[in-house]
Amino acid sequence: MIEVGIVQMVFCSRVADPRDTSSLNENIKAIVRYSQIRNAKLGITGALLTDKTSFAQVAEGSAASIGNMYSSIVNDERHYDVELLQYVVTHVRLLPLQTLAFVEVDRLPGIDGINRHSTPLDRRKACLSVLAALRPLLLG
Ligand SMILES: Cc1cc2nc3c(=O)[nH]c(=O)nc-3n(C[C@H](O)[C@H](O)[C@H](O)COP(=O)(O)O)c2cc1C
Repeated sequence: MIEVGIVQMVFCSRVADPRDTSSLNENIKAIVRYSQIRNAKLGITGALLTDKTSFAQVAEGSAASIGNMYSSIVNDERHYDVELLQYVVTHVRLLPLQTLAFVEVDRLPGIDGINRHSTPLDRRKACLSVLAALRPLLLG
């Protein structure tokens, strides 16, 4: 489906305390449960990826709803070092059917050492790594 002016945002972040695995698992469950309901209401789709030390998320929706969501996300204490990897306007969603797919991976390639994404090219590469990690989801 074509939708004019959809924003596709990709960010990554570090898990607040990766050693506390039980809190982390609870946090992940709570984020996914809450976000699936809220994103459905706001017309946001996308996927959350984690290797249990970092998060990455692809989110697609109107500029207003993505902007509001991102403001909440950067202030969320369940993670830190939130880094915007991509914010582009498109007309076709990559993940039109998922309010928030959850993808656990052994390692989020390209996301290690988030502070090193200091140039636009580094951020572009990290973004492509996140999108590549969604391949199984996209290809079925
Ligand atoms: C990694 C991560 C991803 C998140 N993704 C979403 C999301 O897709 N949609 C959403 O509504 N909240 C998401 N949240 C939760 C928000 O940060 C926030 O807690 C929630 O939107 C409530 O915000 P509010 O209290 O400002 O209304 C995410 C949080 C984290 C840590």
